[in-house]
Amino acid sequence: MCGIIGYIGQKQTTPILIDGLKKLEYRGYDSAGICVLDKGSLKVIKKKGKIAELDSELKEHNLSGTIGIAHTRWATHGEPNEKNAHPHLDCSGQIAIVHNGIIENHHGLRQLLVKEGHSIVSDTDSEIVAHLIEKFYNGDLAKATVQALQLIDGAYGLAVMCQAEKKIIVARRGSPLIIGIGDKEMFVASDVPAILAHTKKIIYLSDDELAIITEDNYTIKNLEGKKIDKEIHEIKWSVAELEKKGFKHFMLKEIFEQPEAIANTLRGRINDKEIKLSINFDITKIKRIVITACGTSWHSALIGKYLLEDLALMPTEVDYASEFRYRNPILGPDDLMIVISQSGETADTLAALREAKGKGAKTLGIVNVVGSTITREVDSGIYLHVGPEIGVASTKAFSSQVVALLLLAFYIRQEKGLAIDKKIIKELNNLPEKIKEALSQAEAVKVIAEKFKSSKNFLYLGRGINFPVALEGALKLKEISYIHAEGYPAAEIKHGPIALIDANMPVVFLATKNNLSPKIISNMAEVKARSGIIIAVVNEPDKEIKKLADYIIEVSITSPELSPVVNVIPLQLLAYYIADMKGLDVDKPRNLAKSVTVE
Ligand code: G6P
Repeated sequence: MCGIIGYIGQKQTTPILIDGLKKLEYRGYDSAGICVLDKGSLKVIKKKGKIAELDSELKEHNLSGTIGIAHTRWATHGEPNEKNAHPHLDCSGQIAIVHNGIIENHHGLRQLLVKEGHSIVSDTDSEIVAHLIEKFYNGDLAKATVQALQLIDGAYGLAVMCQAEKKIIVARRGSPLIIGIGDKEMFVASDVPAILAHTKKIIYLSDDELAIITEDNYTIKNLEGKKIDKEIHEIKWSVAELEKKGFKHFMLKEIFEQPEAIANTLRGRINDKEIKLSINFDITKIKRIVITACGTSWHSALIGKYLLEDLALMPTEVDYASEFRYRNPILGPDDLMIVISQSGETADTLAALREAKGKGAKTLGIVNVVGSTITREVDSGIYLHVGPEIGVASTKAFSSQVVALLLLAFYIRQEKGLAIDKKIIKELNNLPEKIKEALSQAEAVKVIAEKFKSSKNFLYLGRGINFPVALEGALKLKEISYIHAEGYPAAEIKHGPIALIDANMPVVFLATKNNLSPKIISNMAEVKARSGIIIAVVNEPDKEIKKLADYIIEVSITSPELSPVVNVIPLQLLAYYIADMKGLDVDKPRNLAKSVTVE
């Protein structure tokens, strides 16, 4: 996702900023830019694409100066292009900002500013901040920034500079920001790798704190103006380790990012009163939904079927995109085609979308990558906002796709005028916490991984809304550990897979409490009677399960509709730890690609 670096000192700032941006590349981005105070005026250079392109553009300009801010942008509002890249300037060109996060009330603020005569040139939410600061600026950049922040709802990691003052102002709410302390020089950044080559002395800003930084000093205050003493941390890690935030692999990092990722998917879309989605057609007129996707996204589509039928009372079908496109699907203007894709570029999913459009169906994309082809072709969309997913095996995209489908199901219910259970909405807001609790089972999962890392086969069983979770658990294991694994509806094993069960077969059961619990316990008994080894994911382990299961992984209680998001966590961890214990290349498993752009 977006990255920030800033420098104030005695050295030439441009090479320091460019080097810092390069260190942030792993986060993923689609444009980059830099602002330097050059001979008394702010010079901004921005470029779509790679930092190397920005670097070569800079060679033409020969910027000179010792204060600057720079940014890599991973588009959220507005497509990735030069205009939308940061830094953004105010109307006078005397104030520059870089921003990570999302300004939720940007629509209203934009209207206000335009009415007051500001000319806003980009499609971003971020540019609003530069104009707000300009509105309040009266010779004190820090004061104007505080006044601007008081009007902002949403998340920000912000760095601001101006022509008239030799300082950088940074502020944080919900999006990380650090200050690096050097010798007669100071750094700011969104992430440690950006400045680690220059200093290991770091201050982490907390939410609602603001810092005024000069080349040899810093003052940290809260938004009420009270000074705050902050601890200076000494970083001990190497750059290489930090790029994965200390995690051994991107996949593990992404698994552990899920509480934050889900909070980002929910942000601004749900409150006590309503679900807010920008869907530009009348969804109540839709008579049938067809969802197509590939791989992990197809598994979330299957969960979506349960949710849309149960909560939105919508007849829903799910198809593999590759199958859908070559049938003669019957589809028309009363149908809605939902396509789900992390990358927004999967060739089969794109082709299925085009097929549906050709038949006059309405279309909606659930996509992570902003500006990707699918997002440009659908009628409406729900972005996941989970940041770049680098590990080939999808994790945080899966859980957030399910959350997006939950939001959609509730939204349709609301638009149909049906009552919404307030308790589930509360639970939805609590999901990040529940995921955190599930992640705290990592050590217990490791013990199971050690035990079964040499198994040749695995079975994953679930029922109802947790059947697709069984499919996803099996897929994760196959993808990265190369162990043969099958996911099955638990009752179906009697029609085949039960023949495989013996004392060497680990069978993972999704057995969290719901109306099918007695049935799943019977299925466990069937496996146990054939000496199978039972690993049960539970949230209220009853006596029967305790008797039948060889291993229990306990996750927290949530409503059954939300349980897939919590239950998948230990399965992701199990696959990860087994693959890692086998010494495999977890992030880049053989034969697989992150984005499949051929059919
Ligand atoms: C590839 C990836 C999977 C992903 C699938 C669909 O196979 O390795 O992780 O689930 O493509 O990708 P999409 O970007 O459309 O979700």
